[in-house]
Amino acid sequence: MPNVDGTEKKTIAGHLKNCGVSRRDFVQLCSMVMVAAPAGLALTADNPTPAKLADKIGKAKRPSVVWLHFQDCTGCTESLLRTSKPDVADLILNVISLDYCETLMAASGYQAEAALKQAVEENAGKFVLVIEGAIPTKEQGIYMKLAGKPAIDVLKEVGSKAAAIIAMGSCASWGGLSSTSPNPTGATGVDSILPNAAIVNLPGCPPNPYTLLGTVLEFATMGKLPAVDEKKRPLFAYDRLIHDHCPRRAHFDAGRFATKFGDANHSKGYCLFKLGCKGPVTKNSCSTRHFNEIPDCWPVGIGAPCFGCSEQNVGFNIPAYETVQIHGVGAATPPDGYSLVGSTTGKIGVAQRAWSASRPARSAERHGQPRRNCKAAKKL
Ligand code: SF4
Ligand code: F3S
Repeated sequence: MPNVDGTEKKTIAGHLKNCGVSRRDFVQLCSMVMVAAPAGLALTADNPTPAKLADKIGKAKRPSVVWLHFQDCTGCTESLLRTSKPDVADLILNVISLDYCETLMAASGYQAEAALKQAVEENAGKFVLVIEGAIPTKEQGIYMKLAGKPAIDVLKEVGSKAAAIIAMGSCASWGGLSSTSPNPTGATGVDSILPNAAIVNLPGCPPNPYTLLGTVLEFATMGKLPAVDEKKRPLFAYDRLIHDHCPRRAHFDAGRFATKFGDANHSKGYCLFKLGCKGPVTKNSCSTRHFNEIPDCWPVGIGAPCFGCSEQNVGFNIPAYETVQIHGVGAATPPDGYSLVGSTTGKIGVAQRAWSASRPARSAERHGQPRRNCKAAKKL
């Protein structure tokens, strides 16, 4: 039963119940959050069961979210809306209180203007601001206006009243596609306009909806944004390189590469490094959290090289088919330049040969005695 003052309705669990969302679906969503964010969230730090996580999240209040679009293609929203089984978009939109979003609301013109004003005033200091798209800065921001005001001014005004800001996608994080050279509008990311705000960057073109979900739930339940790296990306989703956990990595390490789209090696699923894959220099979780709940639905999974969309100065900067340098080893390229299997130092193949050659000496050093031969080992 909802409380007399309606507080139960304001909790996530209360709202889901009112909307007819079953506990089963909610627990299923929580289990997906645990898969998507196995580490790096305070929310899941105690390794709860999905049911316990649902209890924890269910008690939190639905965070008010204002979602503004700037120079974007709406692809980030699209990637959210295209989720399924269960309809994650539906669940996310029930978990949050989306008080303003130009793409999803019916209002337009003066009504939309009033809706933004109301959402910001009623939740001042408490709402989460999601920004999708880059912000044009040249010529006092005249290249994009909202209700007659330059977008940059709207961002400053609304952003100053937000409790936290989520820069959704590469454009909002650091300019992305809109900032590609020669960047005629001076497009840039939110962080460079509001450097002192509480911002988390979710770069990607588009970012994975579960990354947004994990971030929003951490804020709603724990009252803070997730732990981030030096580029303000949440560690739970951007702690490793695509290359570190790519299913084609074994081919890379063995020196098996596709060299042309559609060639025999491409058909065999060999590594795409020589076709320009930027996985070795790009941090994101795409290789383990596929899109739209469809297995292998991510760039490398469908045979296209990662173009580094979530890495600043890589995607939209380095040409798509150009190979990147790995681990800062100069001009070395595979097979001479590929890294050691299990290496923590990023040494190159040449070094691997030296490393292998020194194996007996290292073994003796480790055991304080010469390396045992096989016969001696069998006796033990
Ligand atoms: Fe995967 Fe690309 Fe790395 Fe090859 S270079 S293993 S395709 S991430
Ligand atoms: Fe982007 Fe590469 Fe992932 S292009 S979507 S970071 S595989």
